[in-house]
Amino acid sequence: MVRLSAVVVAALCAYAVKADILTGIPDAAPPGYEEWMSPIVVPAKTVTGDGPWASAVARAREFVGNLTLQEKVNLTTGAGANGRCVGMTGTIPRLNFTAFCLEDSPLGVRFTDFASAFPAGINVAMTWDKQMMYDRGYAMGQEHYGKGVNMALGPMTNMGRVQAGGRNWEGFGADPYLSGWGAYQTVQGIQAAGVIATVKHYIGNEQEHYRGGGGAYQVYSSNIDDRTMHEIYAWPFAEAVRAGVGSVMCSYNKINQTQACQNSKTLNGILKEELDFQGFVMSDWTAIISGADSVLAGCDMNMPGFMSYSDPEEYNPDTEVYSYWGSNLIQMVYNGSVPKSRVDDMVTRIMAAYYQMGQDKNYPALNFDQQTENTYVNGQLVNEHVNVMSTHGQTIREIGAASTVVLKNTGVLPVDVTKYKRYGIFGSDAAPNPDGPNGCSDRGCDQGTLAMGWGSGTANFPYLIDPLAAITSFVYSQEPDTVLEGILNDYNYAAINTVAAQADICLVFANADSGEGYITVDNNAGDRNNLTLWHGGEALINASTTYCNNTIVVLHTVGAVTMESWIDNENVTAVLYSALPGQESGNSLVDVLFGAVTPSGKLPYTIAKQRSDYPADVVYSSDQTTPQITYSEALKIDYRWFDSLNITPRFEFGFGLSYTTFTYSDLEIWPVGLYSSYPYATNASLAPSPGGAQDLFYTAYGVSFHVTNTGARDGAEVSQLYLGFPPSAGEPPKVLRGFEKTTIKSQNTAVVVLGLLKHDISIWDVVSQSWQVPSGKFTVMIGSSSRDIRLTGTFTV
Ligand SMILES: *[C@@H]1O[C@H](CO)[C@@H](O)[C@H](O)[C@H]1NC(C)=O
Ligand SMILES: *[C@@H]1O[C@H](CO)[C@@H](O)[C@H](O)[C@H]1NC(C)=O
Ligand SMILES: *[C@@H]1O[C@H](CO)[C@@H](O)[C@H](O)[C@H]1NC(C)=O
Ligand SMILES: *[C@@H]1O[C@H](CO)[C@@H](O)[C@H](O)[C@H]1NC(C)=O
Ligand SMILES: *[C@@H]1O[C@H](CO)[C@@H](O)[C@H](O)[C@H]1NC(C)=O
Ligand SMILES: *[C@@H]1O[C@H](CO)[C@@H](O)[C@H](O)[C@H]1NC(C)=O
Ligand SMILES: *[C@@H]1O[C@H](CO)[C@@H](O)[C@H](O)[C@H]1NC(C)=O
Ligand SMILES: *[C@@H]1O[C@H](CO)[C@@H](O)[C@H](O)[C@H]1NC(C)=O
Ligand SMILES: *[C@@H]1O[C@H](CO)[C@@H](O)[C@H](O)[C@H]1NC(C)=O
Ligand SMILES: *[C@@H]1O[C@H](CO)[C@@H](O)[C@H](O)[C@H]1NC(C)=O
Repeated sequence: MVRLSAVVVAALCAYAVKADILTGIPDAAPPGYEEWMSPIVVPAKTVTGDGPWASAVARAREFVGNLTLQEKVNLTTGAGANGRCVGMTGTIPRLNFTAFCLEDSPLGVRFTDFASAFPAGINVAMTWDKQMMYDRGYAMGQEHYGKGVNMALGPMTNMGRVQAGGRNWEGFGADPYLSGWGAYQTVQGIQAAGVIATVKHYIGNEQEHYRGGGGAYQVYSSNIDDRTMHEIYAWPFAEAVRAGVGSVMCSYNKINQTQACQNSKTLNGILKEELDFQGFVMSDWTAIISGADSVLAGCDMNMPGFMSYSDPEEYNPDTEVYSYWGSNLIQMVYNGSVPKSRVDDMVTRIMAAYYQMGQDKNYPALNFDQQTENTYVNGQLVNEHVNVMSTHGQTIREIGAASTVVLKNTGVLPVDVTKYKRYGIFGSDAAPNPDGPNGCSDRGCDQGTLAMGWGSGTANFPYLIDPLAAITSFVYSQEPDTVLEGILNDYNYAAINTVAAQADICLVFANADSGEGYITVDNNAGDRNNLTLWHGGEALINASTTYCNNTIVVLHTVGAVTMESWIDNENVTAVLYSALPGQESGNSLVDVLFGAVTPSGKLPYTIAKQRSDYPADVVYSSDQTTPQITYSEALKIDYRWFDSLNITPRFEFGFGLSYTTFTYSDLEIWPVGLYSSYPYATNASLAPSPGGAQDLFYTAYGVSFHVTNTGARDGAEVSQLYLGFPPSAGEPPKVLRGFEKTTIKSQNTAVVVLGLLKHDISIWDVVSQSWQVPSGKFTVMIGSSSRDIRLTGTFTV
């Protein structure tokens, strides 16, 4: 293993030609950014078969041992983007080994029919329900499996560092611990169904502007210090690795000047050495822009295989002339720039994931074609229209309801359907997209009710229950003696005023959309331009509140929006934050609105009073070739920033109202010992294992407390554990280190037990390059949100 400091790297750059085989030479840093250079970590660590991977790796080795170099390379290099899946490897005809099918997305199977459109990642984070995170993953895994997909391109677990970040909604919010659970449970769920999960986008892919890919000229560098990398950005990826993820996707951007897919520090160093990752690294689509550099830095699979979407000439699968890998990789082995052992390891890792998920046993054949829904193409049966939806609609409806966050309620919720005679329902977001639920390619428009963002992180809706239809159907099933008028024109204020003046209950629907940068919607190039509502949402709310003193606002937004102009309006009697609930949107809303479900969703990020209160923002314009995005807020993202700087948010991280009330009592904290297993972790040996040193996952402290439902309704409470580190540790005032959602019947008490793992009470020590438990007094804060702390205790290490 060779590790070179940035200084040595800079010196070597003078001999760039020879140094090439060292791989990952960063581009020179612009003046002022000299410290932000990635060190070189080579050679790539070969797969070890540690922990639960022993048998799969052994079988993969045997399989790979039987392959020719050409056959091996075939499994590493995509065969283009025009196949039946968004990515497909080459095949091995000699062994009748078919291509791996790689398919989007993190919320379902993209580009097919008879498959579900699940709630977005952000919604499952809003449930704070570990079981639901798993259930959603498992259901999505079953659907990919049923369609014959080998590798599902999700979950996505970037951190939502900037609120306007276009793809934030695909992930699990702005806290690494919560995102870690989202990633862990989703990976476990998808893979329990036999599908290889792909956690992405590794790493520092936090905005769409200048993210790179497709031969882009300007590509930003995420400059992240080592401690922040470990404690914030890599944490959820580490959890995915601990969950046994088969694949990690390297991103388009650079980290410390070096492309993510040829960054040997993040791939070889952090992922394969520190985290003992046993699967393979797959590139984002055209994120590889080199031959030996990407291979030696630890990338194992090149997708979709060709060099660049903007290449004027079509990729030719026979010659593979437009791939940095393919026949070039064969050549690189022959001329010594890539050792043969590296190629063996690349293929072994890919095949290990295949055996680990049991894909050698009767795996369903691919039965759809991402390019068309036609049954036949040139006489070939390509779409069998296999229905994989099962009963997932029910799961989707439940997640949609459980993820709804009630932000305001002056008492109107739950709506008593017997009490109201006239409903006014306002806004295009209440009703279907006139062009159909899938009317805009990759959901690249904002028409009708919003239930997912846009880009590659999408799936076709098999149907979409809109709020107006669901509310109308529910209300008339209960109270036929009712008038209910929907006005879908967001700008017809006169009509809205008229109906609002007569109604005794009004619902205003508004949204804000975003997505992947290859599509621009209303001048938003992926990232949102602002944090306000779309379609004049604020004026729409005003048009209702001016005449209707009982206006309920329902929001379908991809992230936080500023609410200051209307949130305190006395006529806004309730606000429901539904985010992107997927195909059962209207039904999930009805369940919460009318009280069949007691709301229990909590915010997975902070809603600020104004945009400038957030610690960081999107870089929209830059004249640098490599726009420098330095994460100078470091550990203080989201609520950690607001807490540190004493900024009052509008709604804090972890906030969400219920229809019942909970009290907390009887906090107990006890040392379990750093090497014991109670109550969660196993006490296996200290042998290396995917996800990090095993002893990190032993429980250090047990924490228990009582939660009593003191209200009249049954409901679930998300109890949150925030840890205050000793001052010497240099942590923000509080960091989330535990949560549990508990359903408690009215007037009943539940005992909640949480375990603080050694990892949870550690900080990343940059000197020793290891997790260390700081000594001193820790404060355990138990609460209903990050600013509603009900119980406090301490322990001293
Ligand atoms: C990036 O540079 C910072 C500052 O020198 C360093 O702490 C960190 O480890 C580097 N990370 C990577 C992935 O190169
Ligand atoms: C590899 O080849 C040997 C000898 O032909 C054969 O016995 C073995 O089954 C093959 N292994 C795999 C995994 O294909
Ligand atoms: C590589 O895969 C292609 C299909 O993409 C196939 O035509 C070719 O025969 C394979 N090569 C080898 C050596 O198996
Ligand atoms: C190759 O695989 C196909 C599909 O699984 C199967 O129908 C066929 O019999 C296999 N051929 C050989 C020679 O094993
Ligand atoms: C080895 O082959 C690769 C791929 O064709 C080529 O880019 C590289 O320049 C060659 N290196 C040497 C040292 O010949
Ligand atoms: C914010 O962006 C949306 C979508 O492009 C637009 O409709 C709205 O007018 C913008 N808001 C402001 C205040 O510019
Ligand atoms: C609010 O709505 C009323 C009635 O439609 C209108 O007269 C007023 O100008 C609106 N105010 C704002 C700030 O849009
Ligand atoms: C609230 O609604 C009533 C009509 O019921 C209206 O008279 C009043 O002006 C409204 N208040 C605001 C702040 O718009
Ligand atoms: C709205 O105004 C009506 C008529 O003045 C009143 O009966 C009702 O209680 C008000 N509703 C709310 C939620 O304030
Ligand atoms: C866990 O392992 C440690 C270290 O091997 C050992 O001392 C301890 O007794 C074990 N605890 C349990 C509960 O097995």
